[in-house]
Amino acid sequence: MITPLIIANWKMAIDADGVEAFKATWNAKPSIHGIEAVVAPPAPYLPLVQGLSQLSLCAQNVSENEQGAHTGEVAASMLTDFGCQYVLVGHSERRQNQGETNAIVAQKAKRTQAAGLIPVVCVGEPSHIRSEGHATSYVRDQVLSSCEDLAEDLVIAYEPVWAIGSGEAASAQVASEMHLDIKAVLADRYPELRVLYGGSVKPDNCAAFTMATGIDGLLVGGASLSAESFWNICASAKGAE
Ligand code: PGA
Repeated sequence: MITPLIIANWKMAIDADGVEAFKATWNAKPSIHGIEAVVAPPAPYLPLVQGLSQLSLCAQNVSENEQGAHTGEVAASMLTDFGCQYVLVGHSERRQNQGETNAIVAQKAKRTQAAGLIPVVCVGEPSHIRSEGHATSYVRDQVLSSCEDLAEDLVIAYEPVWAIGSGEAASAQVASEMHLDIKAVLADRYPELRVLYGGSVKPDNCAAFTMATGIDGLLVGGASLSAESFWNICASAKGAE
């Protein structure tokens, strides 16, 4: 049985007061055993969240370069200094807004692994690709090109672009089919691969995902900003074990 991995992606949607409020509520909640809960704060807030009970740390981004003259970038080795264990790479918002290609994503994931961290490689099709019937081949291509030459310690997050922040999550069946396909495509290289679902996950729909075949955890955006709501999602994933 794979331990469910539940990652909170705070994006750029929280301020320092919000982080403190989250911590106060989270710390007052009972521990949840049998799941791995992780939070991905904006980079400057990593030290604020360090050492929180039962919450590992994830960065939202990393440089594809190792070190040197790259103003504004953060190296993977710096993230290890702040206790990160995971790094999101290739989130669709970065693919769209910062022009991150599969090749850049692969390079970032490699840097992440070289620093001893686990990349969470994000993939997912835009809505026109799904309506044209090409979702599976599109995601396969993203997965194969974004994971080129990666070692085994990696996680994939399947996040259909049309489901992110839209309130319209994929059905558990649609997600499950894609997860099984991703696992099949990479089975030779990564037999133990964990694949997370993301896109409008909420406390009231999360159990359907964590109970579905091939779904090993969740990447949660909006519903992770409140500690109450994120705790409920984690508790529900524990219940679905
Ligand atoms: P959402 O975001 O849960 O707000 O849809 C998910 C994500 O972008 O990781």
